[in-house]
Amino acid sequence: MALIDPVAVGLGAALTALAVAMHFSKGTGWTATADISQEVLEQRASTVPETDFPEPMNRSIGGGGAVAVGGATGEEGELEEGEAEEESSSPADIPEDEVEYFEVEYLKEGETIEIPNNKTVLESGEDNGWDLPYACRQGQCVSCAGQITSGGNSEDYVVHDDQQMLDDGELDDGYTLTCVAYPRADFSIETGTAP
Ligand code: FES
Repeated sequence: MALIDPVAVGLGAALTALAVAMHFSKGTGWTATADISQEVLEQRASTVPETDFPEPMNRSIGGGGAVAVGGATGEEGELEEGEAEEESSSPADIPEDEVEYFEVEYLKEGETIEIPNNKTVLESGEDNGWDLPYACRQGQCVSCAGQITSGGNSEDYVVHDDQQMLDDGELDDGYTLTCVAYPRADFSIETGTAP
């Protein structure tokens, strides 16, 4: 016959009573901590510097889509103005009443012509009926390259409107990209000559 330990029974009863008491007790109240997420977002947003260009959506910290869209619209306007300013700094935009002319000797073609400082060396030669080499017409290849033989750096004689191919040494040797080269002095040039 199994023996019943009164101590174990007492302990079991006490634990059960405790569990029941805890179940029905009210316990202590819970208060939500203050929501500082907005504050944190604002603080982070204030550390991001203002830019002059429209931000992609993922840079809009805490601002939400509406702010990004609104901001982009305003900044786009500014960007367009900036672009316009940049465009107006190109020699191609020199108004006709401010144009200056320079004497350029095209050695291979055997002729000296007067070309305006708002027209490229390539275009001026083409206007004169010469079939000069070119490809991109944007200063991004060397198809239209020529060599200014008047001595010194080619940029003493022409303004390059964004050439991206010739390095300083090549410019020093008189090389130029005729498709983006606007005259600023008289000079002689060998067309169709690349470094
Ligand atoms: S044509 Fe390409 S750089 Fe002039």
